[in-house]
Amino acid sequence: MADSVTITDNRTGQTVEVPLVDGTVSAKAWSSLLPGVWFDDPSFSATSGADSAITFLDGGAGLLHYRGYPIEQLAERTTFLEVAHLLVRDELPTASQLKDWQREIAEAAPIHENFHKRIFEGFRDDAHTMGVLVSSIAAMSTFWPDSKDIENPDQRRAEIVRLIAKMPTVAAGAYRRNVGLPYVFPDPELDYTSNFLAMMFKVGDSPYEVNPVLRDALDMLFVLHADHEQNCSTTAVRVVGSSHADPYVTVASAAAALYGPRHGGANEAVLRMLEGIGDYSNVDNFITEVKAGEQKLMGFGHRVYKNYDPRAKILKDTAHRVFDVTGTNPLLDVALKLEEVALADEYFVERSLYPNVDFYSGLIYQSMGFPAEMFTVLFAIGRTPGWLAHWDEMLSRNSRIARPRQRYIGPADRDVPDIDSR
Ligand code: ACO
Repeated sequence: MADSVTITDNRTGQTVEVPLVDGTVSAKAWSSLLPGVWFDDPSFSATSGADSAITFLDGGAGLLHYRGYPIEQLAERTTFLEVAHLLVRDELPTASQLKDWQREIAEAAPIHENFHKRIFEGFRDDAHTMGVLVSSIAAMSTFWPDSKDIENPDQRRAEIVRLIAKMPTVAAGAYRRNVGLPYVFPDPELDYTSNFLAMMFKVGDSPYEVNPVLRDALDMLFVLHADHEQNCSTTAVRVVGSSHADPYVTVASAAAALYGPRHGGANEAVLRMLEGIGDYSNVDNFITEVKAGEQKLMGFGHRVYKNYDPRAKILKDTAHRVFDVTGTNPLLDVALKLEEVALADEYFVERSLYPNVDFYSGLIYQSMGFPAEMFTVLFAIGRTPGWLAHWDEMLSRNSRIARPRQRYIGPADRDVPDIDSR
């Protein structure tokens, strides 16, 4: 049987056979029969926006692979910088490539002193760190105008290094400005995640002692967040990048998309929800409100996963390792009870709602000493290599500018009346 579908236009009796390629019909073939007939798909639920070799996701089976490697193995056996290399340079690094890669990233980590003085200092004292991060990434565009040469693969490569390297520096700077602590400059002797922790939490002149269990857990969290194919923020990268905007404003647009509570902002929203519920004994009432449509169970549900998010499974185990060091987070009991009640409740079962990556991550971040305003910033650090891998992949394939169609539902043609008769 042919791997195709045949469509008949009943208005004219004409037919066209449209090939099915990897479960996808070509909109171009469709349009050859039906010009001017558009797919009505505002949230892109049934639209493939890219051919991509980066991440494979099977939401029904709960599988996630980066360039063929299962997330479970990457989380256990690799560091974040190795995964970043895998995403932006196609393969896991050899030992010598890893050394060079670490050096490249460490050398590019500092940011211009003017950045601290003029950009960070310009925000209100109580500015949310995610707002500061989004604006700061966009501001970097003005510090590296050569980044506009996006059609040059070498320039893209340089910008990718800069962005991965500078994200922790900017993130920690945004935090320290917020709490009124002096900035800590990156230390090239430290690994990526230890360096970030030192820039965040170092006080005074004494060296910052990194706890290896917490460092490894955070590094693994970055691995889990590193890519997730065509999610909302990655789609923002592809749409904005398709206009040939420079990588800084393009990544800033992705970070802005991530900020929303339906996407990466959910990790902060989960913590606020758990704090609001407060106690184990209030869980049943809360679930009743969710089922009545009065609340959303934050950290649950996913457009693509209709099974347990594999990242949430790994995070749940990690939480216990972290709590062995930091002491149990009192909100863990509330989270565990919420999960237990929801997974047994018809409302959630019928809709295939399971915990997603954001359900447990906030509890871990909080126990490590990060304030809730930093949770989505941490997600952004992890996701940066993924955003950049998609940006580079799209540009290296000479993609066309993103420009969907619409169904016009406004008024019909009319004449502009004089101001007195409006
Ligand atoms: N709590 C309660 N009900 C929910 C939830 C939830 N968290 N998520 C979905 N539903 C319900 C919807 O109300 C809908 O019910 P209905 O059929 O009676 O109308 C049904 O489940 C289907 O949900 P949709 O809204 O169609 O799912 P969609 O794919 O559009 O949205 C989303 C996915 C945004 C993630 C949603 O599940 C949600 O808001 N979850 C909470 C926020 C969250 O955790 N976001 C993080 C996602 S992971 C990430 O981006 C990193």
